[in-house]
Amino acid sequence: MTYTTNNAGIPVESDEHSLTVGSTGPILLQDHYLIEKMAQFNRERVPERVVHAKGSGAYGTFEVTNDVSEFTKADLFQPGRRTEMLARFSTVAGEQGSPDTWRDPRGFALKFYTEHGNYDMVGNNTPVFFVRDPIKFQDFIRSQKRTFGSALRDHDMQWDFWTLSPESAHMVTWLMGDRGIPRTYRHMNGYSSHTYMWINGGGAKFWVKYHFKTDQGIEFLAQDEADTLAGTDGDAHRRDLYESIARGEHPSWTLKVQIMPFEDAADYRFNPFDLTKVWPHGDYPLIDVGRMTLDKNPEDYFVHIEQAAFEPSNMVPGIGPSPDKMLLGRLFSYPDTHRYRIGPNYAQLPPNHARSPISSYAKDGPMRHEPANVARPYAPNSYGGPAAAAQQSVDPAGWQVVGEMVREAYALHAEDDDFGQAGTQVRQVLDDAQRERLVGNISGHLLDGVSEPVLDRALQYWRNVDKDLGDRVAAKVGDG
Ligand code: NDP
Ligand code: HEM
Repeated sequence: MTYTTNNAGIPVESDEHSLTVGSTGPILLQDHYLIEKMAQFNRERVPERVVHAKGSGAYGTFEVTNDVSEFTKADLFQPGRRTEMLARFSTVAGEQGSPDTWRDPRGFALKFYTEHGNYDMVGNNTPVFFVRDPIKFQDFIRSQKRTFGSALRDHDMQWDFWTLSPESAHMVTWLMGDRGIPRTYRHMNGYSSHTYMWINGGGAKFWVKYHFKTDQGIEFLAQDEADTLAGTDGDAHRRDLYESIARGEHPSWTLKVQIMPFEDAADYRFNPFDLTKVWPHGDYPLIDVGRMTLDKNPEDYFVHIEQAAFEPSNMVPGIGPSPDKMLLGRLFSYPDTHRYRIGPNYAQLPPNHARSPISSYAKDGPMRHEPANVARPYAPNSYGGPAAAAQQSVDPAGWQVVGEMVREAYALHAEDDDFGQAGTQVRQVLDDAQRERLVGNISGHLLDGVSEPVLDRALQYWRNVDKDLGDRVAAKVGDG
């Protein structure tokens, strides 16, 4: 028989009755167990993530199946290597309790516990994004969340932002298509979206984009199926991931990369760092790297998934950032929000803890529970303290920059525009049935609360993507 204890391990007297004067009370202040229960309960929540609040996750392994060591020296991508990892999938705009099947991009966040510290690949199930400058991210997200007065989500607000931000067209085409609502988290791809840098053992640099292709096959939910599920099982995707892993059906994804020689970037036909663009496969074909398999559910959702802290700034030797302004903005944003949401010592918690040796000079702060592993709290010191790797000549992951300080858009490459790649998707990638559903999804969304002048701009936006598509949407919303 195990006896209930309080948080200090002391056996408690009752699970059922508060300490009172006589059976009708009053309750005594000295019932410190009752007080502990109430106080602990009041503090059960940390703030939810400001975006991607609703999510699910699992642990697994990443296994290298092909030799890409000519492109990167990163430990986790070396031939034969197996690396333990954590994945968290999420919707973006909804709150913690929101339905899994709302139309939204899905987060695809991965943490690899490598020999050189944690590598986080914090991507989405889309290869592109809505905006290309981090100064617009906060406005974009607010336009997708809730209005001031009614606190309702509002399609007029969403389309107002999108149509005033034409760089969103490629991503919105994606979102309104079949892939805007995956059938489950297991049936979607993940993409780095951003371009990153890879550096090989000889110091040569390459640009890289990651594509995690689902081995379960792509499957989607039609709008009406998703609407029904939102009412009957708002946690459908969470349930599917947990239950399939529990059953021993372990979902997997094959990692492929596109590699661009460092020198190609300057005059490639599209700006390779613009997050609203893909690199067409014909220009940079996919190269196999390995497979990630998720095989272990979290034993405690809050500890392992709610407190998981992914950060694009976690890059290990052999991997670096690129000049993508969105990525550079994100390098600041995530550690900052973790310090606020979880606390300054979030890196010591189980899902975030590196599994390679840590010899950091950081000290103290709320909830720090591991004793320091450096002898003195400062560097340099003459008592055998660790010294930075730069002093051991690690190649910096950088590029040359010269210029005035400006607030300007990216310089245009030969084929850069806001609508071209979206139009290619509509005309060359989608088939007739997919185009028909795209028209249905867009017009359904517009008919749900979008008013003039936003509606007019939306029809022009779609005619800019593809004239025929725009005309068909206009006909459906009765504005043909
Ligand atoms: P490809 O014909 O080589 O590739 C088209 C890709 O589109 C496919 O490989 C698939 O990517 C993806 N796709 C298939 N069905 C859909 C759908 N219903 N909704 C969204 N994407 C779908 O052409 P390009 O590489 O020249 O690209 C043409 C267009 O395809 C791009 O403008 C872009 O919109 C889209 N695309 C391109 C990707 C890229 O990285 N080049 C990636 C994804 C889409 P996947 O195998 O990754 O599922
Ligand atoms: C979550 C900021 C763009 C993918 C978050 C969070 C913030 C944030 C503050 C909450 C993190 C947390 O509380 O744990 C930003 C900013 C962006 C940006 C400032 C642009 C400047 C993107 C892009 C992608 C992306 C382009 C994908 C390519 C994610 C994912 C999560 C997330 C997957 C959830 C991580 C998890 O599962 O915990 N973002 N984001 N974000 N973001 Fe972004």
